[in-house]
Amino acid sequence: MRVLGIETSCDETGVAIYDGDKGLLAHELYSQVALHQQYGGVVPELAARDHVNKILPLIRQCCEQAKMVLSDLNAIAYTAGPGLMGALLTGAGVATSLAYSLDIPAIPIHHMEGHLQAALLTDEKPKYPFLVLLVSGGHSLLLSARAFGDYELLGESLDDAVGESFDKVAKLLGLPYPGGPAVAKLATIGDAKRFQFPRPLANRDSYDFSFSGLKTAVANTVNQLGDLSQQDKADVAASFQAAAIDCLMIKLKKVQVQRHYDAIVIAGGVSANQLLRQRLAELAVDTGCQVYFPPLDLCTDNGAMIAYTGYQCLVQQRVKPKDWQIHAKARWLLTALNS
Ligand code: KG4
Ligand code: ZN
Repeated sequence: MRVLGIETSCDETGVAIYDGDKGLLAHELYSQVALHQQYGGVVPELAARDHVNKILPLIRQCCEQAKMVLSDLNAIAYTAGPGLMGALLTGAGVATSLAYSLDIPAIPIHHMEGHLQAALLTDEKPKYPFLVLLVSGGHSLLLSARAFGDYELLGESLDDAVGESFDKVAKLLGLPYPGGPAVAKLATIGDAKRFQFPRPLANRDSYDFSFSGLKTAVANTVNQLGDLSQQDKADVAASFQAAAIDCLMIKLKKVQVQRHYDAIVIAGGVSANQLLRQRLAELAVDTGCQVYFPPLDLCTDNGAMIAYTGYQCLVQQRVKPKDWQIHAKARWLLTALNS
């Protein structure tokens, strides 16, 4: 079975084709970073318009790459939310129209389930149940994945998402958007011990996170320093990154000590962070579990994760065959998928 996947929830147009026997046949990604960089963040209207320009050429390119035609597809999966409404509608409109004309199912996919499934796009896969940390620009979620489409929410950020806090700190330091990779890169030459930033909620029993106080502490330090040298910026970046990753690790450890999972899956844009990967590898050794990450190029938004999740929906019969209605939700809880 072959599934076309379309991702347009934010600032990446991602298209891919997944084949149940052969794996990923094609994978194309167009990033709008250059378009939004001059504004210091994503401009929703521009994002939607640019998806309109790129989506059909990318679908064509994927078919050529996979050496197939559209009528070889068994289903079309698309990101139905959460995300920017105009951007979502572009992908959803194209996906449902194409699926209708081909008389095949259109499968609405939850963006965060797509991120989670990207970590399973490898030969070695974890067995359910496993612990999941989903960390992106819009979400920080700690979940127990009991089965495909059955997720127990253990904790989440009460304010900013962790990726968002990287983006805001990058802005404070005058670094380009998207901030995560820029902060992480600068942090490699910084002293992570120079500034003692807070680890909010670290001593609370809950598994929830909070990042807005950390960002405010960084803003205060930046203001106090005044004119920042390159070394000052690097030290702030490294000290912030250490605190942010600590916040995630403290809660992960807490769950792991109490629940003893055999496998932990980390996904979403921030799962590309090398310090997080290193700390996770240490946790795996300490607690005798396996840690699974998506391949580096599939950590941030992409079409492959949507195509693969759509394929899982087909296999698990989580598909409404004749539903060609356009589904798009700016806000959508992952646990709403639980049947
Ligand atoms: O999953 P994603 O591509 O889009 C959303 O669904 O939000 O995640 C993007 C987020 C951004 O906030 C970006 O700054 C962050 O992931 N990010 C990183 C790194 N690479 C991307 N944060 C920290 N370290 C990184 N290496
Ligand atoms: Zn994402």
